[in-house]
Amino acid sequence: MREKILILDFGGQYNQLIARRVRQNHVYCELMPHQTSLAEIKAFDPIGIIFTGGPNSVYDKDAPHVDPGVYTLGVPILGICYGCQLMAQQLGGEVRAAQSDAAREYGRTATRFDTACGLFSGLAERSVTWMSHGDYIARLPEGFTACASSAACPTAAICDESRGFYGVQFHPEVNHTENGAAMLQSFLYGICGAHGSWHMDNYQQSAVASLRERVGDGRVLLALSGGVDSSVCAALLAEAVGSRLTCVFVDHGLMRKDEGDRVEAAFSKWDIDFRRINAEKRFLARLAGVTEPEEKRKRVGEEFIRVFEEESKKLGAVDFLAQGTIYPDVIESGMGDAAVIKSHHNVGGLPELVDFKEILEPLRPLFKDEVRALGRGLGLPEQLVSRQPFPGPGLAIRVLGEVTREKLRILREADYLFREEIEKAGLNAQINQYFAVLTDARTVGVMGDGRTYDRVVALRAVTTDDFMTADWARIPNEVLARVSSRIVNEVRGVNRVVYDITAKPPGTVEWE
Ligand code: XMP
Repeated sequence: MREKILILDFGGQYNQLIARRVRQNHVYCELMPHQTSLAEIKAFDPIGIIFTGGPNSVYDKDAPHVDPGVYTLGVPILGICYGCQLMAQQLGGEVRAAQSDAAREYGRTATRFDTACGLFSGLAERSVTWMSHGDYIARLPEGFTACASSAACPTAAICDESRGFYGVQFHPEVNHTENGAAMLQSFLYGICGAHGSWHMDNYQQSAVASLRERVGDGRVLLALSGGVDSSVCAALLAEAVGSRLTCVFVDHGLMRKDEGDRVEAAFSKWDIDFRRINAEKRFLARLAGVTEPEEKRKRVGEEFIRVFEEESKKLGAVDFLAQGTIYPDVIESGMGDAAVIKSHHNVGGLPELVDFKEILEPLRPLFKDEVRALGRGLGLPEQLVSRQPFPGPGLAIRVLGEVTREKLRILREADYLFREEIEKAGLNAQINQYFAVLTDARTVGVMGDGRTYDRVVALRAVTTDDFMTADWARIPNEVLARVSSRIVNEVRGVNRVVYDITAKPPGTVEWE
């Protein structure tokens, strides 16, 4: 039986991060809405429960609550921020709004800990925590003691160890809380008794076994985009059902240098029905004369579906359509509604047009870092597994203005050189996404003794946690100098290179 932690979501901004931290400790967890019924909580059978933070005050009219029966399950609970205040209030304590600005705490806060408490044992008596709260616990519930304090808050953490209830006002899941990782580890291992059984090799074994059982002698169809999720999904299915899997890889000719060949090389070694559809011609024909970014996106999406539809018709009815949906897709598409099939999936629109009986989503419980680890375990090449996000419309939205074969050639070469130099400089792990853009501008230059009138390449590199906001990467000047010199010298048709120093917002990561 798998050890599971339940994370009840009260709407805080760090909820996915809490789940990832638990998983990184090799303990399986799921995030569920706070309205989850007691019966469902019992059925999930967690070894521990975490209440997340949230934007409300526990006294707000519509403040989210949890069924108080949760306190009678005999399962340890860790309440974080709002979750801590809610536990205090539901168990008979009193929460109050801080009367002065000084009593509210936001950001790094010097905190003192009682190391006799199981959550903090073995840790320093003083360390910095990350606080973000306007309310505080004015009176403790019966059986509780305060086990951490800060200058403004005598109840920075509370506990009733006899019942396994712990609450912290601060956020142990963020890196700014110095010993946060150790505290979570103490909760999981010391208090909940976890053994750390969540590993991707175990997951692989059990997923393969259950896919085999479910698929039986049926046939599975997967649309392979070449992205991390669909590639790992394909590798897992290949392992599980081998020749009963058909992968249709629609190569739209808008991939980066050698990328289509890499996908093909990775999958042709498996005993599966792998079909690469070289559709560059038809995609370029659909894009001819189109300059408006949204129109390009629309046309690439539609053409992808059309090609896939034609191929799947050739196959006839299939039993299972597989999709590379991953856990953040599930969370972001509305939690608790397990039936939702992600509408913004890479290949959105496919289920309607393929004649199939059931959908398989073998990566559904996994976070991206887990998907990558699984892919490595399955023997996928590192280049595929650690691939950066790549937009569905591919280079069509990195070639500004009309997309032509010649412009794609220039962009591919420039992009390849940029990526090569970033990797050589060892910067690839620090920069979350980096690529070249071919602008539609031409400028005058001088090369040898002659005048040139050639294209301008822009370099884009960003650091970000979630791609919702991003900053431009501070690449050392000497690396930029090398990239610029190589692109101008080695890529015919380019005589100028610029570096994009725009954050998101106000810019976006992609230029179109
Ligand atoms: P933006 O440009 O919106 O990009 O700041 C944020 C992240 O999303 C990626 N992106 C896409 N991914 N289909 C995708 O699968 C798309 O149409 C698409 N457009 C942008 C982008 O590369 C960045 O990582």
